[in-house]
Amino acid sequence: MAHDVARSFRGRVAVVAADLVVPPGSVTALVGPNGAGKTTLLLVLAGLLAPDRGSVTLDGVDLVADPVGARARTGWMPDSLGSWDSLTARELLATMADAHRLPRAASAARVAELLALVHLEDLADAPAHVLSRGQKQRLGLARALVHSPAVLLLDEPASGLDPRSRVELRDTLRRLAGEGVAVLVSSHVLGELDELADRAVLMNGGRTVDVLEDVGVGGLGSDVPGSRPRPWRVRALEPAQLLAALEGRGLRPRPAEGGIDVVVPDEESAARLLAGLVADGVGVVSFAPATGLLEQAYLELDEGSRR
Ligand SMILES: Nc1ncnc2c1ncn2[C@@H]1O[C@H](COP(=O)(O)OP(=O)(O)O)[C@@H](O)[C@H]1O
Ligand SMILES: [Mg+2]
Repeated sequence: MAHDVARSFRGRVAVVAADLVVPPGSVTALVGPNGAGKTTLLLVLAGLLAPDRGSVTLDGVDLVADPVGARARTGWMPDSLGSWDSLTARELLATMADAHRLPRAASAARVAELLALVHLEDLADAPAHVLSRGQKQRLGLARALVHSPAVLLLDEPASGLDPRSRVELRDTLRRLAGEGVAVLVSSHVLGELDELADRAVLMNGGRTVDVLEDVGVGGLGSDVPGSRPRPWRVRALEPAQLLAALEGRGLRPRPAEGGIDVVVPDEESAARLLAGLVADGVGVVSFAPATGLLEQAYLELDEGSRR
């Protein structure tokens, strides 16, 4: 989707070398600390900022060769709604439908459908400035979806959302991915991506530094949370006894900070393991999922940027 993209602002480098693929039917997270270049890269992908170098293809359409066609296939949600405050939610979406040249007859129905999708029907005719942060985010999502884009780009969509709105955002994005949309979501807060993304592209210092497939923060293969292998951290009164008990079960325990980590296939196995350890007389004092793969990679990234 993006190859070797670079962009500077008056000599200040924001994106140096970004390579990114967002497969249709999946949610890809663009993860990195503040200043990593996420917003700049997303603006380039959305066709709103010209890159100094590199190529971008959206739903098979080259952004440079056919900017209008590429943008018609792309939905963009900025990190804040912008200055449309005097319009109502319904007017804002209708304006967007006009901009995308939706026929008038289809437009009203599409707007109503989107208002229902983001649960803003009751506030449809109130000026957008009375909306809360979370409601504005939902309106921003509806606005990005007006023309049923094949590619959806969202800049920090979960920021400032309460937990319930976050769950709704996750469900909406997962459903869109299920319908074949290629979704890219940026975030600098890992907790926001819980159960949302299938893959993560890590970005730091203007570079895409790593791609994690199947990151274990949710996704198509894991509609049931906890149905995939992950490390669990166990702490016991007597670590040596715990270590022996784990090894005795054919597991490969690894000493970790504050306990011993052991990879377990799923939550059921974890529950069985805990019961077994207790039955063996091991004084287990804590037993919980250890830091996830994505979190681990992110922490390493952050460390790196501080060095
Ligand atoms: N319009 C701009 N003018 C000058 N510098 C900018 C501009 N936009 C971003 N930058 C700089 O580029 C770098 C990356 O910013 P950004 O893409 O916003 O990162 P992120 O979204 O990951 O926090 C930062 O150092 C930022 O200060
Ligand atoms: Mg940003």
